[in-house]
Amino acid sequence: MYPPSDELRDRLVVWYSQHARTLPWREVVSPYRTLVSEIMLQQTRVDTVVPYFLRFMERWPRLEDLAAADMDEVLEAWAGLGYYRRARSLVAACQAAEALGGLPDSVEALKNLPGIGPYTAGAIASIAYGKPVAAVDGNVERVICRVDLRRGNPRKAPLKRALTARAEELSREGVASEVTQGLMELGATVCMPRVAHCERCPWQELCRAHAEGAALEVPELPKRKPPKAVSAVCVLLQHEGGLWFGERQPGLLGGLWGPPMSSLDGDVSGEAAARALVTEQGVIPSNVARVGKVTHVFTHRRLSLEVWTASFTGAPDVDVSQFVDARWVHPGVEQVAFSRLTEKILEACARNQEPMLPFEDHAQP
Ligand code: ADE
Repeated sequence: MYPPSDELRDRLVVWYSQHARTLPWREVVSPYRTLVSEIMLQQTRVDTVVPYFLRFMERWPRLEDLAAADMDEVLEAWAGLGYYRRARSLVAACQAAEALGGLPDSVEALKNLPGIGPYTAGAIASIAYGKPVAAVDGNVERVICRVDLRRGNPRKAPLKRALTARAEELSREGVASEVTQGLMELGATVCMPRVAHCERCPWQELCRAHAEGAALEVPELPKRKPPKAVSAVCVLLQHEGGLWFGERQPGLLGGLWGPPMSSLDGDVSGEAAARALVTEQGVIPSNVARVGKVTHVFTHRRLSLEVWTASFTGAPDVDVSQFVDARWVHPGVEQVAFSRLTEKILEACARNQEPMLPFEDHAQP
């Protein structure tokens, strides 16, 4: 027997009213604000999201504003949040919603919008529209697995379905938003992955995992593989204060601007790879020099990137390079969507204190 849902719900709602963190998407609630915050919160921590969310609301206060936004500007405002595909689908979701006359209120209709899966659909329907539906993210999965002491892999169909059904059972018309956010909040602040603060939990006396001293044994998630180590080189070409940057092809960093880059494998030296990369831009390299190294972790990759500079003769040509588009870019002067990786490259370059420093001379006063 699992703990009774009525009692769990009542306790959760009271606890949430007393302990919820003050967060900008909770102070003023609307379907649009819920959509933006929930998309940003996928894979990104609350503390990181807050300033991005506030900037987005200032820059694009209404769904129609974001639907009409310039994609480069959105990507630039997104820079640093990672997983840039989310930014593209957020804009696409706003456009699709606008065509429907606004964000729909049913889970089924929400799931038809780009980038919106069952979790985000459930979050919008319950938080913004008060529908008693489930929104099961990692936090919710954990608190339910613990309170019920459910074993097994929660990402696999049978348990996943059971958790969704249980979250729905916990919800109720009139308190749907408090239940959804209360479950998330409990997982984020009390019932955490590596520590369970049972003494602060409103469910302590009802929790089966607590009773058996098994809180940290569930959920039984499969071990994550460590990110694969990969090496690459990039090269900074400079001309009259500009850097030769390109917009990357669709993929991991698709749509974002950065210097030419190539993977580094086998026996090729960093210098040889940097030279080849310069040649690939349609120019002839000379004075190839190493500036430094940056590391960057993507979900499944740990990238170790050598940063090189080179002087060259000729004019680079976008048609022979790896980019969708490329040109001389003046970071700090013009608005361009950079990834966090490109920012790190520029920082490495600034730290290097070389006289050929590409962007500081052009920074705005
Ligand atoms: N994580 C995902 N959604 C959230 C929300 N609405 N509040 C806090 N953390 C969250």
